[in-house]
Amino acid sequence: MNIDNIKKEFPIFNSKIHNNDLVYLDSANSSQKPLVVINRIYDFYTKEFSNVGRSVHYLAVAATNLYEKTRSSVQKYINAKDKNEIVFTKGATEAINLVANTFGQKYLKEGDEILITELEHHSNYVPWHFLRKEKGIKIKFAEVNNDGEITIESIEKKITNKTKLIAFTHLSNVTGAILPVKEITELAHSKKIPVLVDGCQSAPHLKLDMQDLDCDFYAISCHKMYGPTGLGILYAKKKWLEDLPPYQGGGGMIGQVKKDGISYGDLPNKYEAGTMATAQVIAFDESIKFLEKIGIHNIMQHEKQLMDYGEEILRKNNSVKLVGNPKKKGAVLSFTIDGIHPHDIATILDEDGVAIRAGHHCCQILHDKLGLTSTARASLGIYNTTDDIDKLNLSINKCKKIFNLK
Ligand code: ALA
Repeated sequence: MNIDNIKKEFPIFNSKIHNNDLVYLDSANSSQKPLVVINRIYDFYTKEFSNVGRSVHYLAVAATNLYEKTRSSVQKYINAKDKNEIVFTKGATEAINLVANTFGQKYLKEGDEILITELEHHSNYVPWHFLRKEKGIKIKFAEVNNDGEITIESIEKKITNKTKLIAFTHLSNVTGAILPVKEITELAHSKKIPVLVDGCQSAPHLKLDMQDLDCDFYAISCHKMYGPTGLGILYAKKKWLEDLPPYQGGGGMIGQVKKDGISYGDLPNKYEAGTMATAQVIAFDESIKFLEKIGIHNIMQHEKQLMDYGEEILRKNNSVKLVGNPKKKGAVLSFTIDGIHPHDIATILDEDGVAIRAGHHCCQILHDKLGLTSTARASLGIYNTTDDIDKLNLSINKCKKIFNLK
């Protein structure tokens, strides 16, 4: 696999940042986009645009076919059993809100418990908090261990006979911990508890197989998968999509609309109200082709090598403290430097064109637990190389020098 050639597919790397080459280490936040995806959006709007699922004219039918083609590609990519188990949303956040809202309406009452973990980013906590406010449900937190992991035991400990759903991340955006999804799901199902997996960070980096994982819901963020913004995916087992009420009301999700009653459309239309992010969905097919062309096993191998290299380099660097030490770790290097605020680190690195994220990474619960207000985070994508890690380290050294650290 030639990373230099892959990198050439991303026009952003032709840009200079403060007169430097861009070292993009913020892919956990959002990945850069290959030209094929950008061009697909341009071509769709310039030559093929129409709304989908409504009119019968040529453009409308062609656009609808393209839109549905992406659904089939996603189904294949994540090995879902049925194409109608793929629902397009405006993001992973909306996918989780969809489940919290509809599952909450139908199945939750005062005193019921939702089990999440201390690793969750806000998108997998706040929607459950709304139900705490509205319905008086309780939110339990499986505790993170000193290595920044969630073990199956920490989940098991918090399950009670009131637990109605377990919702957890596949891959932490701060410690990089990869959770044992299959084992947690087996445990949950043995107690008849459904499982929602937040796949925001895992989907771009790990092999996804819904039938193997057997989870009930899986949320995906397309803009982290080299795809457009404004698009997410909710995978849900068909039985849930048939059973749960619709999320939003409007055109496209209905069957019959009469003054005295409304019936809802077939799956997956029941959950896709209003005009959808048509161009984004159609362009996302190119993201999937891009990922398939490289191959997920090559992606995993490349990112593992980079991670190992990054950890080694940063561990050797005095004053840099890595956050978390999980045994199974994804493409995230969070760190602190005693005496330098992460925002100062990020600002100084930026002067060299090194783009990282600093802050709480939408994980205030985890930062509270770690006794930190914020961390600096370098996160990897398929375009990164060991050279990028070396540049990160050089910039960190420059930063230490400014603050008179060794
Ligand atoms: N987008 C968020 C991140 O940077 C959650 O990890």
